Amino acid sequence: MELVFRPRRLRRHATLRKMVRETVLRREDFIYPMFVAPGQGVRQPVDAMPGVCRLSVDQLLKEAREIRDLGLSAVLLFGLPLTKDDTGSEAASPKGTVQRAVRRLKKEVPELLVITDVCLCAYTSHGHCGLIHQGEVDNDASLEALAQVALSHAEAGADMVAPSDMMDGRVGAIRETLDERGFEMVPIMSYAVKYASSFYGPFREAAESAPAFGDRRAYQMDPANAREALREAALDVEEGADILMVKPAMPYLDIITQLAGEFDLPLAAYQVSGEYSMIKAAAQLGWLDETAVMLESLTAIKRAGADLILTYFAKQAAALLK
Ligand code: PBG
Repeated sequence: MELVFRPRRLRRHATLRKMVRETVLRREDFIYPMFVAPGQGVRQPVDAMPGVCRLSVDQLLKEAREIRDLGLSAVLLFGLPLTKDDTGSEAASPKGTVQRAVRRLKKEVPELLVITDVCLCAYTSHGHCGLIHQGEVDNDASLEALAQVALSHAEAGADMVAPSDMMDGRVGAIRETLDERGFEMVPIMSYAVKYASSFYGPFREAAESAPAFGDRRAYQMDPANAREALREAALDVEEGADILMVKPAMPYLDIITQLAGEFDLPLAAYQVSGEYSMIKAAAQLGWLDETAVMLESLTAIKRAGADLILTYFAKQAAALLK
């Protein structure tokens, strides 16, 4: 038998495999999501997400230094309010947990890029991502509220804002408000393609943000749709998004690849809470090799076309890539 081409020739030596490797993870690829809680000395583990805690600002600062020392570039902050109300008013308060965290972080760990999640779901008593009017999420009424949240983050010193609410027109509304108030240089990372996914379950425990009635299918995307993802992304580009995001990541690798081929903006993908929890749980049962599966999943997400990966594994992965 005469084989002209033998793919195995390039697989025989570890060094050679490394030389021809197409996708390489870097610590700079990762963004680490964190949950900021009110209070002092709070370090509250999230049951379904081993290794993840809700942290008060003082604890967050400690961890931020550790994160910087691991060589990570950026964190994404989610806030928990002291009190929830109908309109999620604490979300835009200059004294809110996120706003306080941002001010301290930018003062004490300035090298770390601070991105803030812009949404209302953790702040509203009904748990929806926008304002409710006659039993429904009112799109246009929510835009002004969301823009005020983004503005309060920028005023606190956020390096970037990331709207995750999925209201139509929110990127444009936020861009306009930021520009009017002198924050034209603060970029927007848009959760452009965010599916109504069941993989967000553990996050909702962490952020106490489960909807009190109904679900999010009237604003987040139908998991069955791919072409619609391109339209969603195109709208956000027109409205001024600087970075696009696909979320979740691994169940939607096809979408990541399509967006990477279609748009020239940097592309992020969010390996969400459920993706993390599945790997952690299987590893705890001894059913999977946690480190190997973690690196394989992150490599797959990058290979699919993501430039940046939001992941709860960021610290673990960075420690290995050091
Ligand atoms: C809030 C928001 C959610 C996530 C990020 N921002 C939850 C949701 O939409 O219900 C999920 C992140 C994760 O699961 O890790 N809108």
